[in-house]
Amino acid sequence: MAFSELFLQELAERNDIVDVVSGYVQLTKRSGSNLFGLCPFHSEKTPSFSVAPDKQIYHCFGCGKGGSVIGFIMEIENLSFPDAVAFLARRAGMAIPEQEDDPNARKRERMLALNREAARFFYDQLKSPEGGRAQEYLTRRQLSGRTAKNFGLGFAPDTWTSLTDAMKARGYTEQELFDAGLVRHGKKGGVYDTFRDRLMFPVIDVRGNVIGFSGRILGDGEPKYMNTPETLVFSKSHNLFGLNLAKKSKMGFIILVEGNVDVASLHQAGFDCAVASLGTSLTPEQARLLSRYTNEIVIAYDGDNAGQKAAQRAIGLLEKLDMRVRVLRMEGAKDPDEYIKTYGADAFRNLLEGSENHIEYRLQSVQRKYDLSAPEQKVAYVKEAAGVIAQLPGSVEREVYAMRVAELAGIQNAAVADEIARQRKQKLRTARKELAREQLRPVRQREKQSGVRYDNPHSAAAEEGVIRLLYLDSALFSGLEPPKEEQFSSPELRHIYSVLLSHARERRPVSLAALGETLSSQELQLLTRIIQQDDLSDRREQALRDYIHILNTDSLTGGDTDLRAYADKLKERKGYGGTTK
Ligand code: UTP
Ligand code: MN
Repeated sequence: MAFSELFLQELAERNDIVDVVSGYVQLTKRSGSNLFGLCPFHSEKTPSFSVAPDKQIYHCFGCGKGGSVIGFIMEIENLSFPDAVAFLARRAGMAIPEQEDDPNARKRERMLALNREAARFFYDQLKSPEGGRAQEYLTRRQLSGRTAKNFGLGFAPDTWTSLTDAMKARGYTEQELFDAGLVRHGKKGGVYDTFRDRLMFPVIDVRGNVIGFSGRILGDGEPKYMNTPETLVFSKSHNLFGLNLAKKSKMGFIILVEGNVDVASLHQAGFDCAVASLGTSLTPEQARLLSRYTNEIVIAYDGDNAGQKAAQRAIGLLEKLDMRVRVLRMEGAKDPDEYIKTYGADAFRNLLEGSENHIEYRLQSVQRKYDLSAPEQKVAYVKEAAGVIAQLPGSVEREVYAMRVAELAGIQNAAVADEIARQRKQKLRTARKELAREQLRPVRQREKQSGVRYDNPHSAAAEEGVIRLLYLDSALFSGLEPPKEEQFSSPELRHIYSVLLSHARERRPVSLAALGETLSSQELQLLTRIIQQDDLSDRREQALRDYIHILNTDSLTGGDTDLRAYADKLKERKGYGGTTK
């Protein structure tokens, strides 16, 4: 690969990891120089994601992810290494040096350019005489020209190859059109346009790329929508329609709706924070994406059964990410579009202001499931409702809702309160068990997470210590005989060590960012974990001597005997007594 170390180092210097990460994660200072926040890569309620400004690395103690600023961008923006480099270069206003081709990066760029051209083509068609029917349809749906422009709406003409011809004339091949999902293969060879006679909604990602399309039929018919299939640049489950606009909203929350038309209609009515999930029910990836831009979601799904079920699922996903969730109930309209058309924007605003918090909503959903005049159903209702209430953190809150449930069921407050207390105890017990498992995890998962097997666990800490010090302060090694590669117990550690050692020998400075091309991502993660551990700043020299001593004595005895000795020691320490043969 083609980036020079010098370039990568400058890139990392000009993109301070704290600044970059702060764009995605709210970081707070806890102790020492490290900053902490909620990990963007797994769901958690207490921060285990750390950023070390001095070392310019991030590391999550929960899920084990870690690396340099480039690694962070790769992970969070879902980009390849060269794309992440380009992303950060743009951010810092640096020119990207000519790079050797990463075929996929190249393809992706072409595909995005093609999509942009296609969007422009559809947009022009909408303005042209052929687009008259689509214009009429927009009028019928009360969507203004401004809204059409804001979303870049377009029209795919009712012909077989208009788009194909136009794009071929601009130098794109049939294969490229096919890869982008814009054409299909005909039975007799050749290709034809995927989208025909449809109102086109370009799907634009948060970086402003046109990544795909959603085409609605003009009027009734099947299928109502056609969407770009999964491509190199488009994944339905990872994107949200309208987020490119909503992310700039000042409303402070995001409204999640089902339909593209609902999004357009809401924006037009002044609610510029509406997004839709592209016809899938909200996915974990979409939830995480949302959590980057807001911590409050208002769900305004359709009132039908499917919509309500989807809302429940979405609540679960969003809550896991610690977001506040409210649910809108729109009486007298099936969706936000219809609601606004029928009652007006002000009515919708009132609805927003009064929208129920999700506990209330959940309790009502539970209530609707049961016929409270039937005794056995009443019992089931109280149990399920108590389960919902048991999750509330505040005792006053719990009491208030308990009273309401008791009233509805026509039973004593105390009975409901008892049931809630019982379920809380149970939940706490489970949570505690989970926590205990969590706490054991680092030990067990150290190996699993990094994918590294230590043949000799006893010397592993020493091996890591040597690597840490070599990375942080290679001058310590002058005058010492550095350990041999063979003394490292896993191929990954061996490789990391040899790379660091050759840097040190050639007196080349080393940075994690620059190592991104030499080490595998697994090795990078391993190295990150190693260097973020305590480095005993004042006793480094002594520590290094100790590590090397351990390595030397350990590799003299066979790994096997050592393992057994280690196991015995462990047992001793845990007070198991007894020895094994
Ligand atoms: P809706 O049927 O609610 O569509 O489907 P809508 O956008 O609100 O359109 P109107 O108001 O009925 O005219 C919700 C979303 O589900 C996806 C689309 O993304 C749509 O916006 N969908 C729907 C499909 O992908 N395919 C379909 O056939 C139907
Ligand atoms: Mn709809």
